[in-house]
Amino acid sequence: MSVVAVVPAAGSGVRLGAAVPKAFVSLGGVPMLVRTVDGLLDSRVVDRVIVAAPADQVGTARSLLAGRPVVVLAGGADRTESVRCALRAIGRVTEDAHGGERAAGSPGGGRESQVDTVLVHDAARPLTPPELTAAVVAAVRSGHPAVVPALPLADTVKQVDGDGRVHGTIDRSVLRAVQTPQGFSYDVLRRAYAAATSAATDDAGLVEALGEPVHTVPGHASAFKVTTPWDLELAELLLRRRTS
Ligand code: C5P
Repeated sequence: MSVVAVVPAAGSGVRLGAAVPKAFVSLGGVPMLVRTVDGLLDSRVVDRVIVAAPADQVGTARSLLAGRPVVVLAGGADRTESVRCALRAIGRVTEDAHGGERAAGSPGGGRESQVDTVLVHDAARPLTPPELTAAVVAAVRSGHPAVVPALPLADTVKQVDGDGRVHGTIDRSVLRAVQTPQGFSYDVLRRAYAAATSAATDDAGLVEALGEPVHTVPGHASAFKVTTPWDLELAELLLRRRTS
């Protein structure tokens, strides 16, 4: 049985305002995508990674990730489409430990038939601790079909309308901010994407729509998503502290 990690990395990163797509922005001299993929592989529970890159960056991503058990393909117009492209690839491409692609054999044959767990992990979370990835996989393998890392909220949360007027305060004790990697039994994630009719901001949301239970494990502050220039600066500072 093997674990495949899908890494949606096809976003443009408009909110970051960088000259290159977000996953290719350098963080401490190493592109964010490389840090994210290496973090997954460092967990020692991920057998191979499928990266969905911007169509015009597929070659660049392949060069950056050469020598790793990684397949790179073109993503889609939104995150859900990018993950969908990668999930299709699980069924048709296998990867040997040295990074060479080979076509899978007959449907249901080949290494992909042994995939039991699929992780989906944003390229934009480059400092995610490998231990978090291992904890998510362990929770899936212990019998939870869908697992998300979750953190309690520090701030009070208000419901507001388009004019900024407050309509209520939501009880934050029942709220959680969820991160990635999110982990799934391959069968449940496949069914969730087959049933999905619109884009979602996370993969567990599609599983919830199926009526399947979603389990939480404790998230980690370092698994934050790099979205804005402030996030990038924070990530640089944290990296500097790690290496000093
Ligand atoms: O835009 P946001 O930060 O929510 O994106 C989360 C992740 O989804 C990022 O790693 C981004 O590269 C990826 N993404 C994608 N395809 C898109 C848009 C976003 O793979 N079309």
